[in-house]
Amino acid sequence: MPSFHSLRVSGIDRASVDAVVISLEVPESLKESYKFIPGQYVSLETTIDEVLVRRSYSLCSTPDEPSLRVGVKKLDQGVFSTYINETLKLGDALKVSVPEGRFVYDADKNEGGLLAIAAGSGITPIFSILNSFLANKNGQEFTLIYGNKSPEQTMFYQEIKDLETKHSEQLTVHWVFSQSSEEGALFGRINPSVINFVLNQQNRLPDHSFLCGPEPMIISSSEQLERKGASKDRIYFELFTASSKTVEVEDQAEKGRFTITCDEITHTLDLVPDKSLLDIALGAKLEVPYSCQGGVCSSCIAKVKQGKASMITNQILTDDEIEEGLVLSCQAIAQSESIHLDYDDV
Ligand code: FES
Repeated sequence: MPSFHSLRVSGIDRASVDAVVISLEVPESLKESYKFIPGQYVSLETTIDEVLVRRSYSLCSTPDEPSLRVGVKKLDQGVFSTYINETLKLGDALKVSVPEGRFVYDADKNEGGLLAIAAGSGITPIFSILNSFLANKNGQEFTLIYGNKSPEQTMFYQEIKDLETKHSEQLTVHWVFSQSSEEGALFGRINPSVINFVLNQQNRLPDHSFLCGPEPMIISSSEQLERKGASKDRIYFELFTASSKTVEVEDQAEKGRFTITCDEITHTLDLVPDKSLLDIALGAKLEVPYSCQGGVCSSCIAKVKQGKASMITNQILTDDEIEEGLVLSCQAIAQSESIHLDYDDV
């Protein structure tokens, strides 16, 4: 299970009119634990109005920076994001998980030119990937399509403008604004026509594509990339909201025995109708890994060792992984009256 440590907030900087970047100081003794790959995220935890709240945020810093940085956009009715934007102070401490996540840019594995498509705060992991890519000085091209309402609401607007100037040989940015007409920018939202326009301007397909944003944008962008000839296994994506593609799990078990192994300890619980396996475990106050509870982050992956469960939604696990027995436990509903879930064997 990813461990949490208390880290001090050493910086709070405005990233746009409605977002901040917070810096978290990592003590020397924990540097090894907080090593990460560009694209990964951490879960932050604190108590707000006497309720323990946990959310995951992508790291926007690069692995060689001295502190961890996460960008947090204030959401309407977002309890945690409002707290971070309006209440958090320098010197406060937050519980921070060690980095995790599968949406990663590995310079050795992802050789060649990159295309990144981001909308809104979907830029945060892409910003880390972009800076890491440029730091590698590999001479390859990086194309970024970045959609927002207006420049004022664009996270890292000036930083990315500066990178465009500094790395003009390598970096091309296609700005897309839906509520502001700007010179040199496209007007509207990121859609298949925008992808088409960008790909037609280049004389080759990107070697790898990284997409982060809302689900409709990710689906339409990846379909368009595939139509243009990009290979599906070189298109990587991360949702930042729960998927709307849900299914009703049939033949749910109404009762039965639920065995959980986590950190080499096995517990036995009763199944609870209409509850996910994660919810049952949390209801019994077990310390199991989780973060978003919405099928977005992948923190809660576990293996069904015995019995049967199906997921309400899944945009993370591949067919092969499901075949192996892996599930997102926050989305998994038991379908057998005896089930064994193992968080260690993943
Ligand atoms: S807790 Fe995030 S995917 Fe399950």
